[in-house]
Amino acid sequence: MPRKSPSKTRDMIIAANWKMYKTIEEAKQFVERLAPLAEGSQAKVYIAPPFTALESAAKLVKERQFPFIIGAQNMNDATEGAFTGEIAAKMLLDVGSQFVILGHSERRHIFNESNSFINKKVKKALAVSLQPILCIGETEAQRQTGDTENVLQEQLEVCLEGIEDPANLVLAYEPVWAIGTGKTAKAEDAENAHQFCRKIIEKLFGKKVASKISILYGGSVKPENAAELMAQSQVDGLLVGGASLSPETFSEIIKNSNKVDV
Ligand code: PGA
Repeated sequence: MPRKSPSKTRDMIIAANWKMYKTIEEAKQFVERLAPLAEGSQAKVYIAPPFTALESAAKLVKERQFPFIIGAQNMNDATEGAFTGEIAAKMLLDVGSQFVILGHSERRHIFNESNSFINKKVKKALAVSLQPILCIGETEAQRQTGDTENVLQEQLEVCLEGIEDPANLVLAYEPVWAIGTGKTAKAEDAENAHQFCRKIIEKLFGKKVASKISILYGGSVKPENAAELMAQSQVDGLLVGGASLSPETFSEIIKNSNKVDV
């Protein structure tokens, strides 16, 4: 299934978000197992283990020269301080993280993170050259009341407020109703949402920047729907939760994404 527009200029990224799963040993086994299965991937492969497994996963990838990029699932915006239980950007860099997922819907909805808090985190990540993957997306209720675009616009405008150059920022459109539910957005809905997000990015940062930012889709991605989603011209990659926990399943997603002709 050919991609409909020339998006070769943007990075293709298939990212694993392990959430609160996997010990150090399990993370290492996964990485070892995935390496031969994902060989030859045109898409960059990102893996976000829990904090405790970050260092060992990053070390293993470096030692064995596996083509994977290791990063974190969250961080605090402060440089350091009395914030019990939080993790700072420099600590993530210290253990070999290259990217950080920010504003994931579970952070927003379970831990009450606001757009303005996420904005501070994005600024911090950019300031220390940690690549931010900014997640946005509407709830089921917001979609039903026709508010999807307003919600996405507000999330983008506030989360990116005061940023002059988003550098290598990656965006992930993750409709909340599709996360962990088995309900995937239709490829066409994902395409429309991504197109809308790119329009807002263009308004904020100009055409050149907007044409370069990779926008990933997330929400019940599986081997069966990866190719169709990736065939959309505005879908530059996938952020995978549940289906990224098994190296076999995740490698099928990588393979099916790569089958798409670019
Ligand atoms: P899911 O999660 O693939 O399990 O729906 C996606 C995500 O939360 O990033």
